[in-house]
Amino acid sequence: MDTSSYLSGLGRHVAVLGSQWGDEGKGKLVDILAGSYPVICRATGGANAGHTIVVEGEKHVFHLMPSGILYPKNVCFIGNGCVIHLQTLIGEIDRLKETGVDVSNRFFISPLAHIVFDFHKEIDGWQESSKGDAKVGTTKRGIGPAYADKINRMGMRFADMYGDEFKSKLEIVDARNQKNYDIHIDINEVCAEYSTLADQLKPFVKDMREELWSSDENILFEGANGCLLDIDHGTFPFVTSSSPTTGGLATGVGVPATYFTDVIGIIKAYCTRVGAGPFPTEINDELGEKIREQGNEYGSTTGRPRRCGWFDAVALKFAVGINGHTELNLTKLDVLSGVSPLKIAVGYGRDWPSTVADWESVEPEYIEMDGFDEDITAVRSYDELPENARAYIEKLEELAGVPIKTIGVGPGRDAMIYR
Ligand code: GDP
Ligand code: IMO
Ligand code: MG
Repeated sequence: MDTSSYLSGLGRHVAVLGSQWGDEGKGKLVDILAGSYPVICRATGGANAGHTIVVEGEKHVFHLMPSGILYPKNVCFIGNGCVIHLQTLIGEIDRLKETGVDVSNRFFISPLAHIVFDFHKEIDGWQESSKGDAKVGTTKRGIGPAYADKINRMGMRFADMYGDEFKSKLEIVDARNQKNYDIHIDINEVCAEYSTLADQLKPFVKDMREELWSSDENILFEGANGCLLDIDHGTFPFVTSSSPTTGGLATGVGVPATYFTDVIGIIKAYCTRVGAGPFPTEINDELGEKIREQGNEYGSTTGRPRRCGWFDAVALKFAVGINGHTELNLTKLDVLSGVSPLKIAVGYGRDWPSTVADWESVEPEYIEMDGFDEDITAVRSYDELPENARAYIEKLEELAGVPIKTIGVGPGRDAMIYR
C-alpha cells in the first residue's frame, strides 16, 4: 500500500498516542500525517516532551510546538491541558523562524493553558533531590509543580497575563514558595518580564474550541509522553503529571470524548524508558547496550541514556484497553536487525500491578521468536521484509488484537511501510 491509500483510510479526527513509556516515535508519524491534516493540536504535557522528525536528512526536535508545523499552511494549536514555559516556547518559535518557518497567523495557544514559571523548575529539582533514591527522574522542566498549582487552583494561565490580577496572584504563589521552598523572586522584576512576554505572545493566544467543534478540516491530535506515564494509569509514582491517554486528549483541548475517528497507538519494536521506575522487561546486560547504541536511545529532551528492554505485550494490551486504539504504528523495527532470538513478554505472572511493590513482583513470561539479520532500512513494502520480521509483526498484532498498519524502518519521513 502507498502513503496516499493509507491516508485515505483514516477518518477526520485522528489521535496519535504513545502506547509505552514515551519516545516511541510519535513525532515522525505526526509529521507524515500532517501533510493531510491541516490542523494539529497538542493537549497534554509541556517541554518534557521531545519529538524528533527527520525531513530530507535534517533533524528537528520539538518540545512544545506540534510536529506538524513544518508544513507551511498548517495551523498548530496548544490546548488548555498543556503547561507552558513561555521562554522555551519563544525560543522554539525563534529557532523555527531562523530556519525559515514562520508561525505567525497559524500557531495558537489556549488562554486557558497554564504557565510554567522558573520557580516551578526549581521546585521540581528540589522535590527530586528531597526524594533521594526514590526520585522519579523527571525532566526537571517544572511539569509536576505546574500541574500541582493547577490542581491546587493557584496556577496562572495565559489569560491571567492580560488581566489586572497577575501581580496579586503571583504574590500568593510567591508567599507559598518562600514559606515552603525558600524560593524568593523579585515580584516587580517578574511582573515586568511577564508583561514583555505577554506582549510577544499576544498574537498567538486564541481560544480555538468552537472552531474545532464545527470545523470541516481534518484535525490531528499529537499525544505527548506515553500511556505508562499517565498520572492515573501509569506506573505511579514514576509517571508524569498529566493524562497522555485518549481521555486526556479530549479534556486537554476541549473536544468531546466521542470526537476521535481513529486512535493510533505508537509502539517501538522493543521498549525503552527514561528516568526511574518499573520496567519489567528491561535488559540489563550488553544486549541492552547494543540496542541503545543501534537505536540511538538517548533522550531528545535531556540526552539521558534510555533504558532498553524487550517488547512488553502485556503493557500494550493494557494501552489498547485504556486508549481504545484502532490501529498501531510499529516503529524502529530496523534497530532489531541482528538481535536473535527476539523475546516478547506475554504475561506478568500476576494481575495488572497497582503499586510499586506489585510491579516488583512481576515475573515476565516470555515467548521467543527468531530474529532477522538483514538491513531493512531501504525496504518500503511489507512483502519485502524478511520472513522473521513479518512473523514478529504478526505476533505483536495478534497479541494486541489491533492491526499494525504502519511500520517504521528508519528515522526519515519516507522510511515507513504502509500495509
Ligand atoms: P517521540 O517522543 O515519541 O516523538 O519520539 P522521540 O523523537 O523522542 O524518539 C524517537 C527517535 O526515534 C527519534 O530520534 C526518531 O527520529 C527516531 N525514529 C522514529 N521512527 C524510527 C524508525 O522507524 N527507525 C529508526 N531507526 N528511528 C526512528
Ligand atoms: P515524549 O513526548 C519519555 C518521563 C520522565 C520521568 C517522568 C516524569 O518525548 O514521549 P516529568 O518531567 O514529566 O515530570 O517526568 O516521565 N517523561 C518522558 N519520558 N518521553 C517523554 O515525552 C516523557 N515525558 C516525561 O523521564 O521519568
Ligand atoms: Mg520523545
